[in-house]
Amino acid sequence: MAIRNIREMGDSVLTKRSKEVTEVTPKIAELINDMLETMYDAQGVGLAAVQVGILKRIVVIDVSPEGDDPIVLINPEIIETSGSQTGEEGCLSLPGKSGVVTRPNYVKVKAYDEEMNEIVYEGTELLARAFCHEIDHLDGHMYVEKVEGSLHDSRHSE
Ligand code: NI
Repeated sequence: MAIRNIREMGDSVLTKRSKEVTEVTPKIAELINDMLETMYDAQGVGLAAVQVGILKRIVVIDVSPEGDDPIVLINPEIIETSGSQTGEEGCLSLPGKSGVVTRPNYVKVKAYDEEMNEIVYEGTELLARAFCHEIDHLDGHMYVEKVEGSLHDSRHSE
């Protein structure tokens, strides 16, 4: 496992669409492990592969307070949303900043796990926000496109 360099806003890779994963090769398994290590090291709650410069549809998320409940999503798709929440959001690709973004309060995601078995996750509040934020990265979008008002300084990041 290794900590990878996190790309920051302004790096053109972050605006590109990531490609579907067809097979979890040893190289992709290593990427997933590195993404988890990189996310925990940076004290984030989510990281998309594009943020370490790899244009593959892979996301890792951990919103648990202890950081011991990782979720790995391969080729994730949002299949249902409801409600709305408005709150602070940040990103490891824009360190030290946050802004107010409105997201659904409930999100259901279909994805594949590391064995390429289909899985469905449901999340509310922070987890729902993280699903939306990270899946946006896979389509080349950053939360700053959705910020209401202006960005400000923060210690939180996703
Ligand atoms: Ni982000």
